[in-house]
Amino acid sequence: MKLNMKICLFLAVAALSASCCRQESMEELTARVFERAAAQFLVLDANIDSVALANPGEPVYPRSINDDGTLWTSGYKWWCSGFYPGSLWYVYEYTADEKYKDLALKYQAGLEPLRYRTDDHDIGFQLMCTYGNNLRITKDSLCVPVIVDGANSLATRFDPEVGCTRSWDNKKYTFPVIIDNMMNLELLFKAFELGGPDSLKNIAVTHAYTTMKNHFREDNSTRHILDYDPETGEIIKVYGGQGYSEDSAWARGQSWALYSFPMVYRFTQDPKMLEHAIAVAEYIIPRLPEDGIPYWDFDAPEVPNDVKDASAAAIMSCGLIELSKYVDAEKSARYLAVAETMLRSLASEEYLAAEGEVYGFLLKHSTGHRTKNSEVDVPLTYADYYFLEALMRWRNL
Ligand code: GLY
Repeated sequence: MKLNMKICLFLAVAALSASCCRQESMEELTARVFERAAAQFLVLDANIDSVALANPGEPVYPRSINDDGTLWTSGYKWWCSGFYPGSLWYVYEYTADEKYKDLALKYQAGLEPLRYRTDDHDIGFQLMCTYGNNLRITKDSLCVPVIVDGANSLATRFDPEVGCTRSWDNKKYTFPVIIDNMMNLELLFKAFELGGPDSLKNIAVTHAYTTMKNHFREDNSTRHILDYDPETGEIIKVYGGQGYSEDSAWARGQSWALYSFPMVYRFTQDPKMLEHAIAVAEYIIPRLPEDGIPYWDFDAPEVPNDVKDASAAAIMSCGLIELSKYVDAEKSARYLAVAETMLRSLASEEYLAAEGEVYGFLLKHSTGHRTKNSEVDVPLTYADYYFLEALMRWRNL
């Protein structure tokens, strides 16, 4: 072989091995995940259409996969109904492909009656994932009255004696408040920003303070459900809820806390909210496994021989990315490094669905309600939603 041919061969092999070993950049990872999401969500839409055709009537939303392997759908009132249209909004935002905007609007339309719903707290999730993103991305002013009406409906659930909005009307409890409810405060803050009454912001701040005081343990882990006496504002009983026990740290509960306190700080600039968000992050980070994806409950006795919860990692990564903007350089770098580990794991073959797999959901291996043996190690719409949100947050840093 001639010398210059040998040199060419050597250079080609060197270039090839460099490209094989180079770590995918976060920009490349984001492009790959959004390309997969764009393909998967068309599959999911076709699957949902088939269910809707067979059951004409109320709009149908994806939920998960049943134990028998069939697609699990829900009606518009289920707390997760906003996540698939919300994910479609993120795909539209990333790709600028009008097809995804049309799909987002198609699923969002069925949620509009929720603006007047007063018998549940989760209209915050449902309306902010949809109308909130719609307003942010397209500036469509028709979203404003929906958001303000929704916030006024949610505010009817506030009890000044307890200092919280009530989560559910379930007769098993007197006045239940769950940590997840912190997420619904974003609807109140946003509606206030859009011209709603001061009371919306005041309710949100009071709810956050009450939760900070009562839901958290000494070690800054959070409980899931507190049942209050509305006459006195005292706690009647603590429930383990979706966690292993009332003394354990349910992973998704921790993730709602890590996401929501930086969000409250964003709207209030109250240093106590930031301090608490940091405390929550510092509780969570040392308890994560190497790949950053938490087991379903930090204290479940079978861990590490137990299921994980990809949704908790997706939500935590959103929280860590937001928090990284408000803290000193050392913490910021540390929080982003943890978020990056989570996002790289979620984008790996282990968690990311292959094209056409799992009915068109994006992520595998989430856990909804382990102790009830419901939604264990399955896709969940909110895992997909917060994963895409985290990647957009990363991109916008
Ligand atoms: N209760 C809402 C959740 O599963 O996180």
